[in-house]
Amino acid sequence: MRKLAVVNMKGGVGKTTTAIHLAAGLAGRGARVLLIDADPQGNVGHTLGLRPERTFEDLMMGDAAFDSVAIRGVRQGLDVVASTPAAFALERRLAGETQRETILSRRLRNLRSEHGYDAVVVDCSPAMNLLTFNALLFAEEIVVPVGMDLMAVIGARQTLNGVAQVRELWPERRLELLAVLPTFVHSGNHATRATLDALTGDRDIGPRLLLPGIRQCIDLNYATASHQTVWEYAPKSRAAADYGKLVDFVEDSGASSGYATQERLAAPPFGASPAIATPAEVQTEV
Ligand SMILES: Nc1ncnc2c1ncn2[C@@H]1O[C@H](COP(=O)(O)OP(=O)(O)OP(=O)(O)O)[C@@H](O)[C@H]1O
Ligand SMILES: [Mg+2]
Repeated sequence: MRKLAVVNMKGGVGKTTTAIHLAAGLAGRGARVLLIDADPQGNVGHTLGLRPERTFEDLMMGDAAFDSVAIRGVRQGLDVVASTPAAFALERRLAGETQRETILSRRLRNLRSEHGYDAVVVDCSPAMNLLTFNALLFAEEIVVPVGMDLMAVIGARQTLNGVAQVRELWPERRLELLAVLPTFVHSGNHATRATLDALTGDRDIGPRLLLPGIRQCIDLNYATASHQTVWEYAPKSRAAADYGKLVDFVEDSGASSGYATQERLAAPPFGASPAIATPAEVQTEV
């Protein structure tokens, strides 16, 4: 079972959009997927038009079993644990718990054997708070979406520092940076070029940079407003194509998708040699 967290301390970089499309995309390819909203803003539920009775907060507090919290069949193969602002209180309510950073992974211990999921995707809030640490201690792979401005690079760096802290404190746990995903990519734009250059030059981020990334695309906003994925709302849009490639990449770890990180190209996992796009080659329609 894949366990993926979508994380960046910076707000508004496309975490929720990415988590939803990753989860829905994998489900659309036949996987059984659970999408968990670990952000009290509750944007996964808003975007998918859900009205949860039981939420992430109940699961974390132990007030409800997984079965009564999971919303089944949100899409074919896709279940969701939604969140609401009530989860803002979790930080305080869990303050006295022992090992409070591992509550989520303990609550979801038998997910694969009892529910048969192939993948779990966790959407995180824009902060390194208790809930994000719980997500990082549940997940084994992380995806870091980064918007195209230099502040977002700082956010990504801070995020990776938080991940390094988790690795240091829990060295026995597997936690890999799967990909740093450029979002809001607009190649004609100086900010995009400068940001991609800065990301490429970063020692940790550069090798995991997933190019060409997700182009800026207004259809994502319209899709959200209509409680649909972009594949449902605008299947021929740029975002539909770009998120399709992300799902390809995650599905086959880059071996034959149009996406590739520099590192995977250096050592393709299955001997394949996928095409690469350099930052300069990133194409964007306006
Ligand atoms: N590639 C894109 N092009 C245009 N708009 C986008 C793109 N990606 C996301 N958006 C829009 O940007 C807004 C913020 O995206 P999203 O909610 O996914 O960010 P976030 O990182 O989860 O934010 P937060 O940190 O508040 O949780 C949303 O309205 C979304 O529809
Ligand atoms: Mg979000």
